[in-house]
Amino acid sequence: MSKKVIAILRGDYIGPEIMEAGLTVLKAASADSNFQYQTIDYPFGGEAIDKYGDPLPQQTIEGCKQADAVLLSAIGGPKWDNASKRPEKGLLEIRNRLGLFSNIRPTKVDPNLSRFSPVKQEVLDNTDFVIVRELTSGIYFGTPRKQNSQDALDTSTYTVQEIKRILKIGFDMSMRRRKHVTVVDKANVLATSRLWRKVTEEFKQEYPEVTVDYCYVDAAAMKIITHPTSFDVLITANLFGDILSDEASVLTGSLGTIPSMSAGTTGPNLYEPIHGSAPDIAGKGIADPISMIQSIEMMLRESFDESYIADKIAEAVQKTIEEGITTPDIGGTATTQEVTTNIVKNLKG
Ligand code: NAD
Ligand code: IPM
Ligand code: MN
Repeated sequence: MSKKVIAILRGDYIGPEIMEAGLTVLKAASADSNFQYQTIDYPFGGEAIDKYGDPLPQQTIEGCKQADAVLLSAIGGPKWDNASKRPEKGLLEIRNRLGLFSNIRPTKVDPNLSRFSPVKQEVLDNTDFVIVRELTSGIYFGTPRKQNSQDALDTSTYTVQEIKRILKIGFDMSMRRRKHVTVVDKANVLATSRLWRKVTEEFKQEYPEVTVDYCYVDAAAMKIITHPTSFDVLITANLFGDILSDEASVLTGSLGTIPSMSAGTTGPNLYEPIHGSAPDIAGKGIADPISMIQSIEMMLRESFDESYIADKIAEAVQKTIEEGITTPDIGGTATTQEVTTNIVKNLKG
């Protein structure tokens, strides 16, 4: 079998710490298997601004395009908040250049971690939903946009084609799950949301088995906390998906445990935690590596069809959590490295 190429973007602040943890687990889990891979590091984000004056240098985008998958930790932070081109701009650009229009953010409550959520146990029980976030359009990318001293402008656009392709991702996913789609929007105010509803009404005819409902984003923000089990697949626009996914992480116990996959129609998928570079805890050795490790698990399943190795990692993470060897965000006192070492120890042969 030929070696798979994984492009590595180590990122900023806690980025390198959790990437190191993730790669350690990947190496141990795939040793003695037929899965052969090679990692190639590329400069990205703040680190790339420091070295090349650009958060997404040409070599990085070229390297990522040629890779079989891209692994990213997290970028950004106060050091570059006033840069003319911020690290975050590089992130938006790489998503756009790789055509990664869908972003899958799972929220599954682990009974071993639910006590770390401020939400009541009985509300959390059996929570298992996925946020399907549109990733390369909407207000993040619409033009014109400008910022003057006295006013600023952002534009939100969606085309029918952009809406249909993200609906397809969400509806197909719902067919493999509980066949329930909730389109989250602000159709009582926004024209783009009204177009989403119109397109959904037609599109759903192709999926007669799927129950479809709509929820305004403000009410959805409330229901995610009060009735999380009422959701299966949420499909939503770029900005709404960004906000709701951080909110949903509260149900699982910590933002530091949630992975994601970004995918398009061609080219490699990109896997990354949903959280940021956590400057407040960087350098302390206490960043939770589970979001990164689970992003790697998703990569093994979705890009490489290596469910066996992914399952091994999932079980080892689970066992480590059960043993209580966790970072402070989920109630433990272990360091990133101790959690990682323990996960490696728990990998079954
Ligand atoms: P953040 O997600 O970095 O942190 C929010 C809170 O969650 C912090 O208290 C942090 O310590 C905690 N947290 C996050 N990940 C954790 C982990 N793995 N383990 C333990 N605790 C964790 O959000 P922020 O502070 O608003 O943003 C910091 C920087 O990250 C900003 O520059 C932002 O633009 C950037 N950002 C990048 C990405 C990305 O690279 N995909 C995503 C979100 C934010
Ligand atoms: C995320 C982040 C990014 C986003 C930022 C850093 C540009 O918050 O991946 O969730 O808004 O998409
Ligand atoms: Mn976000």
